Amino acid sequence: MSQKYAAIHYSKYLELDQILDAQHPRSIEFGEEAHDEMLFIITHQAYELWFKQLIHEVKHISFFFKEEVSDVNIAKANHLLHRCNQIVKLMVKQLEVLETMTPMDFLEFRNYLSPASGFQSYQFRITEVMLGLKNENRITYGGHHYTTFFNEEQKAELEKLENSDSLLQLIDQWLSRTPFINFGDFDFISSYKKSLEEMIENEKKNIQETSFLRDDHKEVRMRMLGDADTFYKNIFDEKNYEERYSRGEVKLSYKSMVAALFISLYRDYPILQMPYQILEKISELDEFLTLWRFRHSQMVKRVIGMKVGTGGSVGVNYLLETALKHSIFGDIQTITTLMVPQSELPILPNALLEQLKFEYKK
Ligand code: HEM
Repeated sequence: MSQKYAAIHYSKYLELDQILDAQHPRSIEFGEEAHDEMLFIITHQAYELWFKQLIHEVKHISFFFKEEVSDVNIAKANHLLHRCNQIVKLMVKQLEVLETMTPMDFLEFRNYLSPASGFQSYQFRITEVMLGLKNENRITYGGHHYTTFFNEEQKAELEKLENSDSLLQLIDQWLSRTPFINFGDFDFISSYKKSLEEMIENEKKNIQETSFLRDDHKEVRMRMLGDADTFYKNIFDEKNYEERYSRGEVKLSYKSMVAALFISLYRDYPILQMPYQILEKISELDEFLTLWRFRHSQMVKRVIGMKVGTGGSVGVNYLLETALKHSIFGDIQTITTLMVPQSELPILPNALLEQLKFEYKK
């Protein structure tokens, strides 16, 4: 190895003196040590380190999506998204260690924490904002803005991030640039609508003609089909979709939603495989984050029951609501609602199929 680098000791490299001197249970300070307070502190510190790593990754992934995205960068973004998912998966699992603390053991030191709460985790908020959680979509409690507990510098940084493109917005822009949706005479969305209409008509006919269903069952199936028909029509009605987009009910633009659908349906074609992988990873990230919120809420229920939080929220019910409503990439996840069996897919024109291949030319 080159001599230009000075040797370094393990402990110095990892700055262990600082890290290992950062656990100071307050129960010791106030009289008698509560044994589990050390576990409580270390668990939170471990989470903060993982948040730091997540932020590091999300920054890099966002950078890849900033400009025209090259094939190589798509692969790198995909790889790092996979890493983020593994981290969040671990974050979910890690709660099990803290759950070995009994509710009564927690009560030995809980009062010493107040009003500290995970609600004040700056890095958690940075992660949420960088991914794309908007202030107007946040659940609030007691009229607190989520930045209330931060200093001016932190507030300014969060505000700056809120005004920059989040990963959700960057992915939206990337999807909206997807070629192939209109290709020569081929218009994906009108072909797709036609296929859906034909599929629904065929199903109606099959239900009416079958002798295997009782009349009341036929009626239910027909109603379900009618609902699906209305649902598809609503989604593919661009004007209606744009209105929902402007009201914040959907977070992907119409163009991007159509592109995400196209990519998901024709994912087996080589050119679309990597974009599909990205959509998969993003959906997974949303799923694991929601899972973390939900798991955390259930751990909280187990440990403090229905007591209010040290940060002043109603506790479990606030956390459960965030699990339901703080989803960021939900529109990408639910693109599956629009899917049809492969056999019903519109056949793509040959000229377009040529474009979707990997091709080696000598
Ligand atoms: C016994 C263990 C825990 C209890 C009883 C607990 C309780 C709570 C409660 C009640 C809240 C709602 C805000 C409030 O009123 O304080 C909250 C929020 C939060 N907690 Fe915990 N928590 C625990 C462990 C953890 C751990 C290990 C982490 C990891 C960093 C964590 C991170 C968070 C975060 C990020 C929030 C904000 C959630 C949001 O606003 O979306 N908590 N916690």
